[in-house]
Amino acid sequence: MDNKMKNILISEEQIKEKITSLGAVISKDYENKKLYVLSLLRGSFIFTADLVRCIEVPTKIGFMTTSSYGHNEESAGIVKVLNDVPDNIEGYDVLIVDDIVDTGITMSFIKDHVTKLGAASVNCCVLLDKPDRRTVDIVPDYCCFKIPDLFVIGYGLNFGDYYRNIPYIFNWKE
Ligand code: IMP
Ligand code: MG
Repeated sequence: MDNKMKNILISEEQIKEKITSLGAVISKDYENKKLYVLSLLRGSFIFTADLVRCIEVPTKIGFMTTSSYGHNEESAGIVKVLNDVPDNIEGYDVLIVDDIVDTGITMSFIKDHVTKLGAASVNCCVLLDKPDRRTVDIVPDYCCFKIPDLFVIGYGLNFGDYYRNIPYIFNWKE
C-alpha cells in the first residue's frame, strides 16, 4: 500500500489552492442569492468542509446520501436515494457538491431530483471531473480538476470503503 499511496496525482497544496480560488468565484456568483449547499455523502464530506470555509456569503448546508460504487470500480447505473435532502429547499439556489463526475448518472439524477423539490436554481460543483467516462450529457458548473480515465482515491474518495482520510488524491499503480 505504501508504494501505491506514493503515486500522488493531486497534492494537498494543489487542492487547497484550487478550493480557495473556487470559493471566491462561488462567493461572487452567489452574492444576494439564497445559497443552499447540498453535499452528497459520503464522497464529498471532506471537499464540502474545505469548500464552505472558503465561501463568504450566507449559506445553508445539507447532506444527502445516494448509492455509490460500493466495493466495485464500476457504477451500477442506478441511483438510489438513501437519505433525502433534510430541508425544504423551495426557492433556494442549490449548489450540489460531489467528489467526482464520472459517467454523470449520479449528478444528472440529483439535479432532476432537486429541481422537482422546487429549487430556484440548481448548479453543481465537483472536485474532480472525468469527462472521458461520460455516458450522460452533463458538464459541472464548477470543477477543481479535470482528470484522465483513472480510478482515484483519497480526499473523500474511497476504495472498498477505505482511504477517504488520505489528504491527497492518488491512483492505483502496482
Ligand atoms: P457517476 O454517477 O458515474 O458520475 O459516479 C459518481 C460516483 O462514483 C462518485 O460520486 C463516486 O462516489 C464514484 N466514483 C466515480 N469515479 C470514481 C473514482 O475514480 N474513485 C472513487 N470513486 C469514484
Ligand atoms: Mg459518490
